[in-house]
Amino acid sequence: MTSKEHSGGGSQLEELNGFTNPGLVEHVPRLSDGDPKADRVAERQVAAWFIASMIGTIWFIVSYFLFVPGESMSSIRLHNTSVGLGAALAMFSLGAGAVLWAKNLMSDHEGIDERHDISGSEEDQAVALEILHQAKEESGIARRPLLRNTLIAALAIAPLPAVLVFRDLGPLPGDMMFHTLWDKGVRLIRDPGGIPSADSERPIKAEDVTIGSAYHVLPSGIGADDGPDRPINEKAKAAVLLMRINPNELKEDPARKDWSHDGIVAYSKICTHVGCPVALYEHQTHHLLCPCHQSTFDVTEHCKVIFGPAKRPLPQLPITVDSEGYLVAQSDFAEPVGPTFWEINHP
Ligand code: FES
Repeated sequence: MTSKEHSGGGSQLEELNGFTNPGLVEHVPRLSDGDPKADRVAERQVAAWFIASMIGTIWFIVSYFLFVPGESMSSIRLHNTSVGLGAALAMFSLGAGAVLWAKNLMSDHEGIDERHDISGSEEDQAVALEILHQAKEESGIARRPLLRNTLIAALAIAPLPAVLVFRDLGPLPGDMMFHTLWDKGVRLIRDPGGIPSADSERPIKAEDVTIGSAYHVLPSGIGADDGPDRPINEKAKAAVLLMRINPNELKEDPARKDWSHDGIVAYSKICTHVGCPVALYEHQTHHLLCPCHQSTFDVTEHCKVIFGPAKRPLPQLPITVDSEGYLVAQSDFAEPVGPTFWEINHP
């Protein structure tokens, strides 16, 4: 045994550091230490927490399949809230049960570990074994089958939510990221925030876009047809950042020379790393920054990556102006938007 029960005082510390070591407080027996009835109650309380953890895990699984998220925001909220509550109950109850077990039922005698050399000698191994045996005795795991079994059951099913969450990583999106709501002649409107509606549409005139400005942009008509029922991922995929810089500063590829209009350029807002919204524009350096992992894109060079983990430029939306001077798309994006690892068929 390498630890001994504290008997007060800490003369060694006192000598070394020149201050009085108050020592450990005197041990006060708990109710469950001397009263078998209280001990039994405490045991049941702990078991109840472990059972609550199992209920939380089962709740998570049932909610996952019961509240399948649809295209509407409310169904997604219901799904997320319910599985979140289930996971929270499972994890909190597991922790609460473990803490109560340690506080009320395991040995609470404070001890001082004597320092000793760490070695792998047989003697030390025997000591370690002895400590393990003592821990087994003091935790009561051998003589409290109710606690042991409920803990094992709770731990056994606790990882199941993770399995379901990993399941959500698939299936692969196929060619879904190759197509967005942008099309030839679709006007660029300012992102109204929240759920767009026909009334909130504000088309952008090229003459209103000043040098140095940046707009969060969506395609016209995004809220007109089916409003909140339009798939949310369609709105997210179509998000665009519009900026105007001095045309002389643009280093445009000749093949894409007509994709911009008098220094006005439009790029997908979805980071090509793992899909965060790129939202920070430094108008002096013409850099776009992704707040998630700091990928940085150079707007003057077709948003090529100049820093960070993203592996390809932000896709450019070809734009022009219509007969009334409003900015419109020439077509959809020429390449898939979103994270690079989704582009299974991308050349
Ligand atoms: S998601 Fe943009 S840098 Fe990671």
